[in-house]
Amino acid sequence: MRAFKNMLVTGGAGFIGSNFVRYTYCQKKFEGRVINLDKLTYAGNPLNLTDIEKEFGTKSYYFERADICDSSRMRAVFKKYEIDTVVHFAAESHVDRSIFGPEDFINTNIIGTFNLLEAARELWNDRDDVLFHHVSTDEVYGSLGKTGYFFETTPYDPTSPYSASKASSDHLVKAYQHTYNIPCTISNCSNNYGPYQFPEKLIPLMILNMVEGKQLPVYGDGKNTRDWLFVEDHCSAVWRIMEEGKSGGTYNVGGENEWQNITLVERLCEMVAKIQGKDSDSYKRLITFVKDRPGHDRRYAINCDKVKRELGWRQEVGFERGIEITVRWYLDHPEWIESVRSGNYRKWIEKNYGKR
Ligand code: NAD
Ligand code: DAU
Repeated sequence: MRAFKNMLVTGGAGFIGSNFVRYTYCQKKFEGRVINLDKLTYAGNPLNLTDIEKEFGTKSYYFERADICDSSRMRAVFKKYEIDTVVHFAAESHVDRSIFGPEDFINTNIIGTFNLLEAARELWNDRDDVLFHHVSTDEVYGSLGKTGYFFETTPYDPTSPYSASKASSDHLVKAYQHTYNIPCTISNCSNNYGPYQFPEKLIPLMILNMVEGKQLPVYGDGKNTRDWLFVEDHCSAVWRIMEEGKSGGTYNVGGENEWQNITLVERLCEMVAKIQGKDSDSYKRLITFVKDRPGHDRRYAINCDKVKRELGWRQEVGFERGIEITVRWYLDHPEWIESVRSGNYRKWIEKNYGKR
């Protein structure tokens, strides 16, 4: 089993990255340091980790505000902290934004990943006690029809600028492992949900719109289908893969939990209403079918037998419970929502790091 001493977590201030950092500190066996490297784009929020900063900030938790597109800075960070492990979450992650403006996706997701790989190539020098784990998506496989699943062997067929940029980064990671023998693993995961997700993504957007009495915009006919996984279960899969995954191995991770968007939104209405003691119809009436996302992938469904069979990973959080935890979290954290919605956390960033 691998152990991690100086772990560089890129994108650790984002949704999954911050959950992963918190998950790491819950692992009794973890005795290393976490270096959270994040550019703090609109999606990176320092408030996501104030508890960790407070408890471990003087002991083993470090934050570096940096852009993975800055190659010399990446090498400097590798040297400064003697990085032996990379968990690479940093990315532009929202499909709609990639359709409106792909450039940041090309830069961060492709060039940024390349820079990190180059730093690893230069500074790890054939070491085999190191690991580069790349966090990727099931969207690299394209879209499914009514039946079938994505397997690790499914050919890549990305359809959006986001998924094409992630596919490209996956290929770079595989090429560096193959050509330079850098120990690398990759996970391709389905849709995550849970606390700290930026409210541009379907589930938090719907919850917050319900609270504010706004329309619930469902794209197209609402029958596009996604496989949903609670974020902590994604974190535990990444940990298992990092501990025992084969170098060069890619692992699909999913919830085995498919929902058509419209059914999911209706269930969210029921959950919010149940928690608030209200009638769910008052929320369901807000559902509005809107213009479809261009090139909208119809269905994703993950086969994750490999990570279960080879590494003994399992999902722990059922959908009903996961949704309840998530809805309660958003209802119980108005200060986080206010900060994200008003952009107030940007003021904190400017005060501490200056304007960019
Ligand atoms: P997110 O948008 O919430 O967070 C991304 C983080 O990366 C932010 O903190 C942002 O500030 C940081 N970042 C962006 N550009 C950067 C740059 N140039 N340099 C340094 N930091 C930068 O994303 P997320 O949903 O937490 O996704 C994390 C990773 O997981 C991504 O690689 C994504 O492709 C992958 N993934 C996400 C999901 C999902 O459902 N959200 C599913 C599968 C895989
Ligand atoms: O599959 C993994 C991917 O899941 C990750 O790689 C991405 O980073 C992550 O953003 C997510 O991509 P999706 O495009 O599937 O997520 P999103 O929450 O944007 O949309 C989920 C579904 O809901 C999708 O079919 C589009 C639809 N949708 C989304 C929004 C924001 C709506 O119908 N209305 C909306 O307002």
